[in-house]
Amino acid sequence: MKTPRTIVVGITGGIAAYKAVNIVRAFVLHGDSVHVVATAAALRFVGKPTLEAISRNPVHTDLYEGVAEVRHVAIGQCADLIVVAPATANSIAKLAAGLADDLLGNTILASTAPLVIAPAMHTEMWNNPATVANVAVLRSRGITIVGPGVGRLTGTDTGAGRMEEPEIIVAVALAILDRAPSAGKAAASARQDLAGRHVLISAGGTREPLDPVRYLGNRSSGMQGVALAQAALARGARVTLVAANLEVPVPTNVSCVLVGSAQEMLEAMTTAAAAADVIIMAAAVADYRPKSVQLGKIKKDEVGDTLTLELVKNPDILAGLSASRRPGQLIIGFAAETEADADRLLALGREKMARKGCDFLVVNRVGYVDGETVGFGTERNAVTVLDRGGVIVNEASGSKMSVANCILDLAG
Ligand code: CTP
Repeated sequence: MKTPRTIVVGITGGIAAYKAVNIVRAFVLHGDSVHVVATAAALRFVGKPTLEAISRNPVHTDLYEGVAEVRHVAIGQCADLIVVAPATANSIAKLAAGLADDLLGNTILASTAPLVIAPAMHTEMWNNPATVANVAVLRSRGITIVGPGVGRLTGTDTGAGRMEEPEIIVAVALAILDRAPSAGKAAASARQDLAGRHVLISAGGTREPLDPVRYLGNRSSGMQGVALAQAALARGARVTLVAANLEVPVPTNVSCVLVGSAQEMLEAMTTAAAAADVIIMAAAVADYRPKSVQLGKIKKDEVGDTLTLELVKNPDILAGLSASRRPGQLIIGFAAETEADADRLLALGREKMARKGCDFLVVNRVGYVDGETVGFGTERNAVTVLDRGGVIVNEASGSKMSVANCILDLAG
């Protein structure tokens, strides 16, 4: 049985505080011990009883309670990880300045555990030079910043500043804890082994238009590619994401090129590859596209009872990038396979490796494995990594963030 780790969840006063309940719940369900430190403002957005029921522990707010047990430093000292979600512009400024005027500030200053923060604010506040400078200070101290995402904000506005989805925050936090078992603390979040490198990642699934309203697509959500982008950012890389029809938000601080079809992805990847040190083809690219795209909607009355589509093969983007790579460029491909037999799965991976010419191939079981769904559209994944010679160099299963870090170890 795994030893529970102590995770302190700091909640500050923003509307996204209600989503912090899901973060607390996910850590508890994961088997970790969770202690919530909420600011007074946070408790105006979410109730203390809710947080106590979900965390199964008392919620602390007041600096002057529990003085006899020296609570203002005790909580931070026993933490294996601190997650601040949401982190408002004000709390980020206080963190950058090292202020300790409340229990959360004291807890963080008294701790040597890795710190993960999930900013949440309006776009103007996120883009304000004060916040930009404060976030840069936090990054320079090795603090992991998750998000914010881009999307609908509290009012009628839309833009960068939305708190990253709870499952992504949890996945990042657990991956950091997994890399720092037994309270490895600060070293894990300070890992910047991809600093100075440009990582190009494709994510999502391409859609091949059939007529103005229909397309041929696949079930890729883009979660693994986005986790790779997030993990690469956390490890100091400059990241370009070529994103096809993602079902998850694009992390901020990545340079993102939105594409629809395989042909558009080919163009975007070929352009971006010129400046990339590491290329990861995590996208599910359609192998075929309709030979012709109808200008008007295909009508049943005109087609009759049977519709036959003629498809033509799409270019193999990964094979093309591998063939035209510049010296020193590292290229990692994926192989999505439904094969259940482990030996046959590896054999398929080795055959694919020979066709693709990349440096590493991440063999990715998709479908139903050991009673749970893995691969497409789920938070978990299970992979085996092959090198050029077909030798297994790494195996990982777990959250897509921990799988992402295992893949990035090949580039670090
Ligand atoms: N890929 C690509 N261009 C394509 C098809 C796939 O770049 N037209 C990339 C994918 O992004 C992935 C790898 O090639 O990194 C393997 O994709 P996968 O779908 O597993 O294999 P395919 O090459 O499509 O072969 P098959 O579907 O027959 O297994």
